[in-house]
Amino acid sequence: MSAGKGSSSKRIVSKTKSPSPLVVSKVKPSPSPPKRPKGDAAFGNASPSSSNRGPSSVSKRHRAGQDRAEKADCADQEQEEDGQDEEECSPGRRRSVFTLKQFQLWLDKEVEENFNGWNGLERSKKVTDGNKKLEAKHVSSQAGSKMALKTMTKAQYGRAKYTFVQQAVVTAAKLQSHEKFADIGSGIGTVVLQVAATIGCVSSIGVELCAGRHEIAMQLKESFNQWVVAKDRGELADRVEFFSGDFREHAIFSKCRDADVLFVNNAESIFGMRSVAEGSYTLDWHVARLACGMRVGSRVVTFEALTDLEHPHFAPCFERRDYLSEPGATSWTEVSQKQTKFFCYTKVGEQWTCSRCTCVNTLLRPSRSQWGESLHDTCEICEGDPAGHRKAYSIRSRLNKSSQ
Ligand SMILES: C[S@@+](CC[C@H](N)C(=O)[O-])C[C@H]1O[C@@H](n2cnc3c(N)ncnc32)[C@H](O)[C@@H]1O
Repeated sequence: MSAGKGSSSKRIVSKTKSPSPLVVSKVKPSPSPPKRPKGDAAFGNASPSSSNRGPSSVSKRHRAGQDRAEKADCADQEQEEDGQDEEECSPGRRRSVFTLKQFQLWLDKEVEENFNGWNGLERSKKVTDGNKKLEAKHVSSQAGSKMALKTMTKAQYGRAKYTFVQQAVVTAAKLQSHEKFADIGSGIGTVVLQVAATIGCVSSIGVELCAGRHEIAMQLKESFNQWVVAKDRGELADRVEFFSGDFREHAIFSKCRDADVLFVNNAESIFGMRSVAEGSYTLDWHVARLACGMRVGSRVVTFEALTDLEHPHFAPCFERRDYLSEPGATSWTEVSQKQTKFFCYTKVGEQWTCSRCTCVNTLLRPSRSQWGESLHDTCEICEGDPAGHRKAYSIRSRLNKSSQ
């Protein structure tokens, strides 16, 4: 497969036209936002009966009663919780969220008290000790990411900064409180906690390969739970989950695929060729595979473009928007205050049509590789007939008929 192993497709990116300093360019103008399937809970217009997040049927009377109870509940809580933002109260969707400032104050204080500040956290034994375990496990099995293993002595390896996380997740990806969020390579977990606290989304999960970073994330989560339980009766605490391991592992991969917004801090090509053994698929390719399996309407935010998603065949399925980050978006650019490009991909379709034989193809297809499925960027019918000798694409019409 051409696009799989870190190759780049030749998609032309339009020049900057937008007056807004944020949006740099837009690859493919979309006439309208992605169609939201009726009743799909992922889009927030779901009726309780169609959503797996609500009861299967709720009578009007019961709902009205519930409404009143929820509103009263919210009013009580507002008085109790000074300075905490309360989101609109609607049945089954009561949310308490914190401002960015409140989260930032809590995290900075937490790191100061328990790790002797951000510099102390960098020297934490959790990182060095935890990562020795990882090295023993992954180097022998060859399953780990080469780059992650090399850089595992750093706790805040490229950590995304507070304001950038808001810019990427709120402004670009427009994560809503009824949606799910996942951070691929969650490091010490600060992005996952920030998103849970400030957006109050249905779930906020992170997966991290380096055991030491994961341990710090778990310690921060414990303190986070205590902080939010005091303010929120534990609602937010239940929504955060950290997984230790490789995001390519089947069980974790499936969890991440269920997210509405994926955040992938792959800055400095850390998920590219430099991170994997020669001849194997890059981590960016796996992120692209993940994106292909997500539902229509989901978004993926990355620092490096996912070139595998930009194969011309996939044009009807993904829309890319380019942004310019705030100065110093990660710990790597904190000193230089450099601005970095980042991207937001929205999945807008599940299938693409071959321009030559008009066969309809899916984005993924089963493969014999250990990953079980691959990106499907070559046409199922034309692939075996590159010169187009077969005039009547009988298989195509058969396939097209059976899919109707
Ligand atoms: C630049 S850091 C980002 C940390 C955090 N997401 C943030 O933005 O602050 C990238 C993280 O990805 C992790 N990583 C690398 N390969 C991974 C893999 N295959 N599965 C899970 N995590 C991985 C690294 O260990 C590293 O902590």
